[in-house]
Amino acid sequence: MKYRNFGKLDWQPSALGFGCMRLPTTDNQPLGANINEELVIRMIRNAIDKGVNYIDTAYPYHQGNSEIVVGKALQDGYRERVKLADKLPVWLVNEPADFDRLLDEQLHKLSTDHIDFYLLHALTRKRWSDIVLKHDLIKKAEAAIKDGRIRYLGFSFHDSYDVFEEIIKAYDWTFCQIQYNYMDISNQAGIKGLKLAASRGIGVVVMEPLLGGHLANPPASVRDAMDQVADLYTPADLALKWIWNQPEVSLVLSGMSSMEQVDENLLSADGSAVNSFTTTEKKAIAALRKSYRSGIAVPCTNCKYCMPCPHGVEIPANFEFFNHAYLYNDLAAAKFRYSIYLTPSQRSDKCIACKECEDKCPQKIEISSWMPKVTEMLSA
Ligand SMILES: NC(=O)c1ccc[n+]([C@@H]2O[C@H](COP(=O)([O-])OP(=O)(O)OC[C@H]3O[C@@H](n4cnc5c(N)ncnc54)[C@H](OP(=O)(O)O)[C@@H]3O)[C@@H](O)[C@H]2O)c1
Repeated sequence: MKYRNFGKLDWQPSALGFGCMRLPTTDNQPLGANINEELVIRMIRNAIDKGVNYIDTAYPYHQGNSEIVVGKALQDGYRERVKLADKLPVWLVNEPADFDRLLDEQLHKLSTDHIDFYLLHALTRKRWSDIVLKHDLIKKAEAAIKDGRIRYLGFSFHDSYDVFEEIIKAYDWTFCQIQYNYMDISNQAGIKGLKLAASRGIGVVVMEPLLGGHLANPPASVRDAMDQVADLYTPADLALKWIWNQPEVSLVLSGMSSMEQVDENLLSADGSAVNSFTTTEKKAIAALRKSYRSGIAVPCTNCKYCMPCPHGVEIPANFEFFNHAYLYNDLAAAKFRYSIYLTPSQRSDKCIACKECEDKCPQKIEISSWMPKVTEMLSA
């Protein structure tokens, strides 16, 4: 296993971390409640035996059961060999006391007396202002650090770069967790967010490195782009190594769904290195990106020239989720993102076709004509 740096912290994380959101289930329901406990315990312990020292779970994963199974996997001496990351479901906080109630419940489910890395889960602009700041949750977290229930505070993030910058600069975070892969360099925090966090000595944990598995299984239209490196890499290996190639990344969380994937990704991590990509790999990534992008419906580049919309519509994010359905043939994930990461007032149905944005769009997209289509596809 390769080990890396974690911001200002005097601790080295394994290049690969174990994400416990997509565990195998006994009824083959992705993300479902019936985790295949026996297999998962073996998978997690296998990863730890081979050097993984960071395990990531969260309150809602597998309908609450991920924390319980992770707690079981970390019995028999495994807890002491890893740093454990878990997340406060901020959307369930209605008053400051909820912080302690939820944290104590999580410690109980995990059968541990402390969580090493505690994150405010899935922050957006609204959750940051209306929940975290409103209930002074950072003060609650600092108290939990003082009494030993958590060691370090961070946050995970799903909104635009400007929101990320505001949150990053608002507190002396130890670490953050961002969605990052070769298709998401200018979505959400993106490469700008990665570099900003790293420049401030904040550890950066990467989630969705394979875009939830899509980049491991490229559609036929994209496979040609893999040809130039197919004898050197599998699609998953190339996507993971592209992230490890970047010195600003602290560790990559992979959500592994089988023992074979654990073994493959351990091997990838062993072969990973910073700044090791040659022109061959860079060309292959550029070709893959181009092939994927040729499948998008709306040629939005997320430049945000159209913003702000006078009616509050988050135009680029609406297009991002709409395009996701086409790019990866995954309508369910696109609908999920649309419903979770956009507030009702930011969604496409609030467009009144004033067309103020259309003059500003360098791509000349007929935004007001697309918005009803976004609504029709994603709002059901
Ligand atoms: N804080 C947040 O807001 C948040 C959000 C998302 C994720 N996370 C965390 O980040 C972790 C990583 O994100 P993710 O689970 O979306 O990661 P990911 O690596 O992008 O996707 C995981 C999926 O990729 C596929 N896969 C993994 N290794 C593979 C391999 N070697 N070959 C082929 N396919 C492979 C599997 O899909 P199949 O099952 O289809 O084979 C697996 O379920 C999560 O588990 C979770 O802990 C946090």
